[in-house]
Amino acid sequence: MPQHGADRAALDVADSNARQWTSSVAGPMKPGSDVHRREMCRMFLETFNPYRPAVLEWPHLEPDALQRIVSLPIWDIAVQTEGKARLRMAAYAATLAESDVREALALNAWEENRHKEVLTRMVAAYGIPLESEAPYVHPKDTEWAYLVTGYSECIDSFFAFGLFEVARRSGLFPPELVDTFEPVMQEECRHILLFANWVAWHRAQLSWWQRIRFKLRVAAVWVFLGWERMNLARTLDADGNEHTHKRNFTVNGAQTVSSTPTSVRELMTLCLTESERRFSGYDARLLRPQTMPKLVRFALRFMRADDRK
Ligand SMILES: [Fe+2]
Ligand SMILES: [Fe+2]
Repeated sequence: MPQHGADRAALDVADSNARQWTSSVAGPMKPGSDVHRREMCRMFLETFNPYRPAVLEWPHLEPDALQRIVSLPIWDIAVQTEGKARLRMAAYAATLAESDVREALALNAWEENRHKEVLTRMVAAYGIPLESEAPYVHPKDTEWAYLVTGYSECIDSFFAFGLFEVARRSGLFPPELVDTFEPVMQEECRHILLFANWVAWHRAQLSWWQRIRFKLRVAAVWVFLGWERMNLARTLDADGNEHTHKRNFTVNGAQTVSSTPTSVRELMTLCLTESERRFSGYDARLLRPQTMPKLVRFALRFMRADDRK
């Protein structure tokens, strides 16, 4: 969609199409059935938002807002995560026999690259220094790499939805900047919606022993991601220098993007409500990612209302 001079109404239609979708097929949609596969893919293709990073305008920032953004410790890891997600999704998509699933996953990979482009352009516009990127390596085990990326997005997006809302409410960032990132946030919601449905569909295609193997793999992915998030991620850049990043940015991040202190309980509650709000526009017969909302709801039972970080 050419967006130079594109009228506001056309952009609004594209934006609202990306947020709500209901299948034209009547009746139940049994997870794993052909109709479920077809409709999850159709949801993904029909909610595609054709915005173009090249024509996004980056608003002028007052010195304190600029400083706040430059100092967020997330830009390197964000750019690299998008690059890695793109490669891993594309690698797995290429192995698939079903053309509609392959097309949906390939589009997901393409959108990850568009996220990377949005971030790269923003970083350049505000003069944020980035470390050089290590070469992206094609995964040997494409299914494992896709599972790690998919569940990783389920965790990161859940917290990002809440943090984004904290940042929006705080007023510390210009509304135009928040608006620019809004479609990226909603796209991550579509990505994990597709992923949750793909997991259910994929599992249903397996024989009983393959299903046991798959369940063990998924459990191993969660253990791996839990370990990864509790540690510092160490990466080597293209020149062989080691960099460390804090991956557990969520709670510290809330203090960075807001001037009022946010308790863990408030933040987790906001993550839950924002997650529900973002998914609410999509056909209720499609499955939602379950693990993070369940874990957080469980944890909230043990948190006192005045539990401040
Ligand atoms: Fe992304
Ligand atoms: Fe994504």
